[in-house]
Amino acid sequence: MDVFAYGLLLLTLSKCVVSKSPHIVFIVADDLGWNDVGFRNPAIISPNIDYLAKNGMILNNSYVQPVCTPSRNAFLSGFYPFKSGLQNFVIVPWAPSCAPLNRTFLPQTLKELGYATHMIGKWHLGMCKWECTPTYRGFDTFYGYYNGKEDYFNYTIFNHTDFRDNKEPTRPYDYSTFNFVANKYAYARRADKVITQHNKSQPMFLYLPFQSVHEPIEVPEIYENMYKNLKNEGRRKFSGMVTALDDAIGNVTDSLKRNGMLKDTLIIFTTDNGGSPTYFGNNYPLRGGKTTVYEGGTRATSFVYGSGLQKPNTVFDGRLFVIVLRMIHAVDWMPTIISAAGGGGQVRGIDGLNMWPSISKGVPSSLRSEFIYNLDDSLVPMMGHAAIRMGDYKLIEGFAGVYNGWYSVPENETATEKDDPKEDYYQLYNLRDDPTEHNNLYTKERSMLKKMKERLEEYKKYIVPPVSMKPDPASNPNNYNGYWTPGWC
Ligand SMILES: *[C@@H]1O[C@H](CO)[C@@H](O)[C@H](O)[C@H]1NC(C)=O
Ligand SMILES: *[C@@H]1O[C@H](CO)[C@@H](O)[C@H](O)[C@H]1NC(C)=O
Ligand SMILES: *[C@@H]1O[C@H](CO)[C@@H](O)[C@H](O)[C@H]1NC(C)=O
Ligand SMILES: *[C@@H]1O[C@H](CO)[C@@H](O)[C@H](O)[C@H]1NC(C)=O
Ligand SMILES: *[C@@H]1O[C@H](CO)[C@@H](O)[C@H](O)[C@H]1NC(C)=O
Ligand SMILES: *[C@@H]1O[C@H](CO)[C@@H](O)[C@H](O)[C@H]1NC(C)=O
Ligand SMILES: *[C@@H]1O[C@H](CO)[C@@H](O)[C@H](O)[C@H]1NC(C)=O
Repeated sequence: MDVFAYGLLLLTLSKCVVSKSPHIVFIVADDLGWNDVGFRNPAIISPNIDYLAKNGMILNNSYVQPVCTPSRNAFLSGFYPFKSGLQNFVIVPWAPSCAPLNRTFLPQTLKELGYATHMIGKWHLGMCKWECTPTYRGFDTFYGYYNGKEDYFNYTIFNHTDFRDNKEPTRPYDYSTFNFVANKYAYARRADKVITQHNKSQPMFLYLPFQSVHEPIEVPEIYENMYKNLKNEGRRKFSGMVTALDDAIGNVTDSLKRNGMLKDTLIIFTTDNGGSPTYFGNNYPLRGGKTTVYEGGTRATSFVYGSGLQKPNTVFDGRLFVIVLRMIHAVDWMPTIISAAGGGGQVRGIDGLNMWPSISKGVPSSLRSEFIYNLDDSLVPMMGHAAIRMGDYKLIEGFAGVYNGWYSVPENETATEKDDPKEDYYQLYNLRDDPTEHNNLYTKERSMLKKMKERLEEYKKYIVPPVSMKPDPASNPNNYNGYWTPGWC
C-alpha cells in the first residue's frame, strides 16, 4: 500500500471513530447551591435545567472543591488541587501564578480525538502569561474573562475590564447571561454562533462555565420581577440570576436543536462549589456553604443529559452496606469526558477515574468510593483543613470553614435552623445515616477515626507547595490600556 492510500485509510478509520463521538457541552454554574434549582426547590424557576436533569441523570453524589480555581483545575486536568499547588484558595488577579503548565488539559486530548474545542465564560486558572490562558491550553476559541468574578454589565473587576474574544480585548454590550427585554445576550449569543458555524462532520466540545450566579448580585429587572413573592431582596435578585442562567441554557439547547445537533450531544452540568450564604445562595438541608469542606460547600448540583445515556430519567445514587456505588468527584470529569468522547479507558497517572462506563450504562460502580475533599496546608485564608471520604464515612480535620451552620432558604421567613455550632478538631460523620452532618462520631467510632487519619496522612505526603499569591505590581492593568492582560510573569 502506498503512503497516499495508507493516509486515506487512516483518514477513513479516524472518520469512523470521529462520527461516533458525541458533541459535548460541559456547563459549569458558578456558586450555585444544592437548593438553588427548581428540581430541588419549587420556589426557583428553572424549567430548562429541570427538564434536562429529570430527563437525564441527576448525579446525587457529585463532589467538587470548596472554591472556584481548585474545582476548575480538577475538571480540566484530572488532578487534585493539593497536587497542583492550588489547595489554599483561588488565583487572584495580581498573582504571578497559574494552574501547572506541565499537565495535559481536557481540550488538548479532545483535539487529538478530532474535536473542535470552544470555551465561553470564566477561566480563573491564571493569566499572568499567555501560556496560562485558554487558547494556549487546548481551546480553539475563547470568549470570556480570565479572572474569578466581575460586574455583569460593565465587565470590570477592581475597576478594570476583563473580557476577550480569543486574545483580543473586547466588551460585550449587555448582561453576561441574557437580557429578556432587549433580547440581547452575551454568552448565549456567542454559543449560538459557535454552534451554528460548527462544521457538523466534526465533533464539538463546548466548555461553558457561566458567570452566573456568582456575586455581584445583579440581574435585569424582568428576572427579579419573576420573584415578587419573595420578601428578601437579595434572594429575589439571586433567584432571578438563576432564571437568567436557565434561559441562557434554554438558548443553547434551542440552538443545538435548530442545528440538528441536540440528539448527538451529551450535556454535562455541574456547579463549581456550593452556594455562598453571604450572597443568598442556599444549600439546605446540607451543612455549610462555599469555602467549607462540609457537604454544602462540596456536594454539587450536577446532572448529565443526552447522547450515550442508556438509562435516562434516573438518579445516580445508592449504596450497598458501606460501599457508595454511585459517586463522582471533580477530578473524574476529565477522564470520564475523554471516555465519552471515544478516547478509551482510564487516563494514566492522574487522580481522576473514568466513570463513563458506570454513568452511561446506569450501572453501579464502587470505583470511586474514596476521595479527598481538600488538603489545605495554609493558615489563611481558608485557615487549614483536611477532609477525606471513605465509603459512607467522612473525616474532617481542623477548621472546616466559616459557614458551619445550616442555612435554610432565605425565602422562607419562618425558618430557623441557622446555628453556628462550635466543633471539635476532628469531625467524623456517617453520611449514609447523617447526610446533613449533625452527629459527630469521633469519640464513638475510634477505630474508624484511626483508619481514616492514617489514610489522610498517606495523602498528605503528596502535597506540593502552594503557588505564589504575592501581589505583583507588574500586573497593573494601567500598563495595558486598562485591561487585565497576560505578559508579566
Ligand atoms: C439525593 O440525596 C438527598 C440528600 O442526601 C436525599 O435526601 C435524596 O433521597 C437523594 N435522592 C435519591 C433519589 O437518592
Ligand atoms: C508538574 O507540576 C506539579 C505542580 O507544580 C509538580 O508537583 C509535578 O512534579 C510536575 N510534574 C512534572 C512531571 O514535572
Ligand atoms: C474604583 O474607582 C473608584 C472611583 O475612581 C474608587 O473610588 C474605588 O476605590 C476603585 N475601586 C477599586 C477596587 O479600585
Ligand atoms: C461597573 O459597575 C459597578 C456596579 O454598578 C460599579 O461599581 C463600577 O464602578 C463600574 N465600573 C466601571 C469601570 O464602570
Ligand atoms: C467540514 O469538514 C470536512 C472534513 O474535514 C471538510 O471536508 C469540509 O470541507 C468542511 N466543510 C466546511 C463547510 O468547511
Ligand atoms: C433565549 O431565551 C429567551 C427566554 O426564553 C427567549 O426569549 C429567546 O427567544 C431565546 N433566544 C434564542 C435565540 O433562543
Ligand atoms: C419554612 O421552614 C419551616 C421550618 O424549617 C418549615 O416547617 C416550613 O414548612 C417552611 N415553609 C416553607 C413554605 O417552605
